[in-house]
Amino acid sequence: MGMSVLVVGSGGREHALAWAIRRNARVERLAVAPGNGGTSEIAENLPVQPTDVAGMTRAAQEWGADFVVVGPDAALGEGMVDALQGVGLPVFGPTQAAARIETSKQFAKEVMAAAGVPTARWKAFEDLEAARRYARDMGAPLVVKADGLAAGKGVTVCETLEEAERALEDNLTRRIFGEASRRVILEEKMTGREVSVFALVDGSNVVPLAAACDYKRVGEGDTGPNTGGMGAYTPPEFFSQFDLANTATAILQPVVDELRRRGSPFRGALYAGLMVTPDGPKVVEFNARFGDPETEAIVPCLDVDLFDLLYATATDGLAGIRFPQSTKAAVSVALAAERYPSTPVLGDEIAIGELPRGVVVFHAGTRREHGRLLTDGGRVLHVVGTGSSVSAARELAYQGVQAISFRGMHYRRDIALGG
Ligand code: AMP
Ligand code: GLY
Repeated sequence: MGMSVLVVGSGGREHALAWAIRRNARVERLAVAPGNGGTSEIAENLPVQPTDVAGMTRAAQEWGADFVVVGPDAALGEGMVDALQGVGLPVFGPTQAAARIETSKQFAKEVMAAAGVPTARWKAFEDLEAARRYARDMGAPLVVKADGLAAGKGVTVCETLEEAERALEDNLTRRIFGEASRRVILEEKMTGREVSVFALVDGSNVVPLAAACDYKRVGEGDTGPNTGGMGAYTPPEFFSQFDLANTATAILQPVVDELRRRGSPFRGALYAGLMVTPDGPKVVEFNARFGDPETEAIVPCLDVDLFDLLYATATDGLAGIRFPQSTKAAVSVALAAERYPSTPVLGDEIAIGELPRGVVVFHAGTRREHGRLLTDGGRVLHVVGTGSSVSAARELAYQGVQAISFRGMHYRRDIALGG
């Protein structure tokens, strides 16, 4: 019998997941909530926000979902998975308790310490004076982090002690991230290249999927303010399949074992942000979900059926499933709206011309209105080129970009360019 699958979220990540799920012959109906102008072409969009737990649970039941895939961290933090499981649905994604590996930096650090996983030296503070003293003892450079979820903006890398003092006051006195600022983590600054590693986890077993690099700053050469991500590529030239397998064994598996031991087994996508330091890979942070925009690059490269893997993760488990090595490369370029990331201008019409073979476009901030495609968010589209090498994929991605236009469109020209 055909299955009805619901994907929760509205970004490029969710469009990419829906695109892959759609290819499985067992999937008969597909919905995305709330979705975007791209998902509406391949699925039914349900008008429910990803943080509306009660509304989503009702919508999943009324629509007749047999399986739900939860994309965004905000939904996980609200306990979306617990609620959907509570009405008897199989769900891809961790419970609220397991998602603390992302939603509380202090919890993540404690789990890493217990699991013996390498990460920056750190200490947590709620008291400004104590934090200041520790910062002075440690000396610059150092990193100040709000403990809770701060929409990806809670981290300040401080080159001087003055910067660190300001970041501490911003959090502990001014509470610039609200509740998330009540506690801060002070940690040593690490150096090296950054890589995102993604694995599927069924509570016990770890199946690594891929490694990718993303670009957070809005401007070329990593300048300007942070964004949700301006592009990504896979595989990183400095991180081999061997490194990926090692990360699964030495970093992901011990953390998964520790979470199970603590009574909150992790099921879903585990995302380790690593820094490849002179002393080997160390964890910068964990996320409890797929990355955005890394997922847009990884999904078209997979040689395995993603739906089968997601469903197995949530139901029978992943024991015996091999590490699905991919032979393809992909480069994803984000097309952003005017004035993104500060105050993006929305509502401009998007024109998409003929795309070269090997290019796929995943939508993020788009909507359809009277047959027209309009911008509806800061990151509008992710243009993904695939090929047998990163440079071939890059060439195609930028050819694809040339076929697209909207007023105020901007993007980085240096995604996946050199080391
Ligand atoms: P996070 O939100 O934890 O991913 O941090 C955002 C960014 O801050 C990371 O991608 C790193 O570039 C940087 N960062 C975080 N922690 C450290 C650290 N201990 N040393 C150096 N850079 C860091
Ligand atoms: N690529 C960054 C994130 O998904 O958080």
